Amino acid sequence: MYNSKIIGLGKYLPDNVVTNADLEKIMETSDAWIQERTGIQERRHIAKDSDDSTSSMGVKASKIAIERAGLLPQDIDLILFATLSPDYYFPGSGVLVQEVLEIPDCPAMDIRMQCSGFVYAVATADQFIKTGMYKNVLVIGSEYHSGGLDMTTRGRNISVIFGDGAGAVVMTRAENNEVGVLNSQLHSEGKYAKELSLIGPNTGRWVPEIMEANDPDDISYYPYMNGQFVFKNAVVRFSEVILAGLQKAGWKPEDIDMLIPHQANLRISQFVQKKFGLSDAQVYNNIQRYGNTTAASIPIALTEACEEGKIKEGSRVVLAAFGSGFTWGSVSIQW
Ligand code: ACO
Repeated sequence: MYNSKIIGLGKYLPDNVVTNADLEKIMETSDAWIQERTGIQERRHIAKDSDDSTSSMGVKASKIAIERAGLLPQDIDLILFATLSPDYYFPGSGVLVQEVLEIPDCPAMDIRMQCSGFVYAVATADQFIKTGMYKNVLVIGSEYHSGGLDMTTRGRNISVIFGDGAGAVVMTRAENNEVGVLNSQLHSEGKYAKELSLIGPNTGRWVPEIMEANDPDDISYYPYMNGQFVFKNAVVRFSEVILAGLQKAGWKPEDIDMLIPHQANLRISQFVQKKFGLSDAQVYNNIQRYGNTTAASIPIALTEACEEGKIKEGSRVVLAAFGSGFTWGSVSIQW
């Protein structure tokens, strides 16, 4: 059995910055409401005239991660692509990245675990590396939310929160079992599947039926979120799964050098930080600048924390996520 470790990281954010003031012009909202509830000041939206897509953003982040890992695309043995906003209904976005990076025929798998997608993908990569089945795994989180949000007052409780972007890491076999991913904790609770969901169109309601109804009030094509219910579950599950990871690693909260929580909402991160008695230096947040980028939020934040020198060799790093499904998980990494 081998440990796995992260050896290269990259991120890509579209240039187009959308501030809270920009949103005030197109819906009934306010900078004060958004900042007070979520901490978000601005987010990135793919510009209307841009060629960017979920997979192309993933490619841009991946190229940086692969180069920083000192590898070539052809060295990648497995691609894992976490997203809830794939380019196509099928096939997944992983194979689209594979084509652009000219990686001949390695497996390319999409992970559909929403906000927990990156944590699930890292845990999956870890398992493949552990068994020796694959050596170099490219793990991507990318989301193109903005095109699919209801950018009117009707959709404001959700549309102000989400942003576009991508992050990627390269994982490989660690030289010894003292470093790298020490443990991962994964959970789902399907009874709350609809509390944070986008259900239409679907296999119970195919496109011809929707076109025939032609109903402008049909909001099933937009995300639905029971915000307060999500909040209550998130703070509990984040706390449980971080604690479980710490216990398995033999760490205490004060041992954490960097907690990278999924950037769901600054208030959720602050609740978790307070619960574990962590200092500001122990928790990385960038939701203020990017909004919630779902599966991309952790790899973007992880990349920035490394670029800023906040994570270095020997750091004890915890990744934690909660999201639609409900799903939640954590990964504890000895860097
Ligand atoms: N601007 C101004 N007013 C708004 C907006 C907005 N963007 N959105 C909703 N409102 C209004 C509502 O219409 C409501 O008005 P009313 O009292 O006149 O009816 C009022 O604000 C309060 O609405 P609530 O939905 O009760 O607002 P709440 O205080 O619950 O805040 C929020 C909403 C921020 C979504 C909160 O529930 C929350 O933080 N939930 C956690 C969910 C979350 O963070 N999701 C992130 C994505 S999921 C994930 O990543 C895990």
